[in-house]
Amino acid sequence: MNTKVLKVSDEGNFTGEELEYLKEAAEILKHGGLVAFPTETVYGLGANALDEKAARKIYEAKGRPSDNPLIAHVADFEGIEPLVSRIPEMGRKLAEAFWPGPMTLVFPKSALVPLGTTGGLDTVAIRMPSDPVARMLIRLAGVPVAAPSANTSGRPSPTRAEHVYQDMEGRIEMIIDGGPVGIGVESTIVDVTEEVPVLLRPGAVTMEMLESVAGEVRVDPAILGPVSPDLKPKAPGMKYRHYAPNADLTLVEGPQDRVVSEINRLAAEKLLEGYKVGIICTDETRDSYPAGMVRSIGQRAKEETVAHNLYAVLREFDDLGAQYLFSEGFPADHLGQAIMNRLNKAAGYRIVKVWPEAEL
Ligand code: TXA
Ligand code: MG
Repeated sequence: MNTKVLKVSDEGNFTGEELEYLKEAAEILKHGGLVAFPTETVYGLGANALDEKAARKIYEAKGRPSDNPLIAHVADFEGIEPLVSRIPEMGRKLAEAFWPGPMTLVFPKSALVPLGTTGGLDTVAIRMPSDPVARMLIRLAGVPVAAPSANTSGRPSPTRAEHVYQDMEGRIEMIIDGGPVGIGVESTIVDVTEEVPVLLRPGAVTMEMLESVAGEVRVDPAILGPVSPDLKPKAPGMKYRHYAPNADLTLVEGPQDRVVSEINRLAAEKLLEGYKVGIICTDETRDSYPAGMVRSIGQRAKEETVAHNLYAVLREFDDLGAQYLFSEGFPADHLGQAIMNRLNKAAGYRIVKVWPEAEL
């Protein structure tokens, strides 16, 4: 299959030519094909969410286990009702507060949504993205669009069309290139099927933001640490080692000066053994690492820059052939909760803590 790449500006004022491209993409979706497209979080790999056969193609293209359900993307509030059997009050409240935007809600599903889309679950995850390209594409397709992140299963999610091309060339009909995404980590997922909403995956709609609207919010234990075999995460995808770079990644947490010296020590050890070593640091600490391949992931003082660059840096180190990676850790509140959730998983929970004893 020849994968067509079409560029569309992400501003929302589409030219006639861009609209033609989006119509062509919508036709592919309508006819059961696959189109990758930008959203404000990461690039998605889209198919008609109501077409089980199309959903199956997504799993094939990604090499994804078929028990891992897909998120159905809609362009407006009218798109939701046919997909759900009821809208719990809390779901309505959170939707009104944060849609369109980087949040996914889990509802009880209607009979219209095939089990092939929901991984056999009787719930359906729905998101209304704010990205103008995504919204126009969904509108033109006239169907809800199932879209996981457009990476090969297990690789970091794509934040640029080039990342999608690396993973999906020859496997899908089309990639809509809307430039780099804004946020860079996947949407916050909240289950609203129970009385108290449950956070299943942290994202740019933060725990603090959810609590300001919902009051109490529970946190699924799967996002806090390694998933033990007897614990079943409510978002099936959270049990896989996602976001994994090819290299062995170790996270180092503690006060900045101690983190820097520990990373330098660990990196020197591996460099002496002859390995290719990468260091993931921040603008603030960039000049403190004399050896290894050093990449800043963003500004510690502006965590949205860290979220924005995270996956691109992990992919760059794959391209550079890094064998060992050492990364600074981040405070796990606000957007930091999503950043640390992804870094922890990428590291397979290999964490070195260098806090002074008094602070442990
Ligand atoms: O930002 C995003 O959410 C991106 C963009 C493309 O929208 N999509 C994305 O999809 O990250 P994906 O498939 O990579 O991750 C979806 C996660 C998985 O962990 C899956 O298990 C969970 O959502 N999920 C989907 N449906 C669910 C359901 N009914 N109940 C619980 N978890 C669900
Ligand atoms: Mg994914």
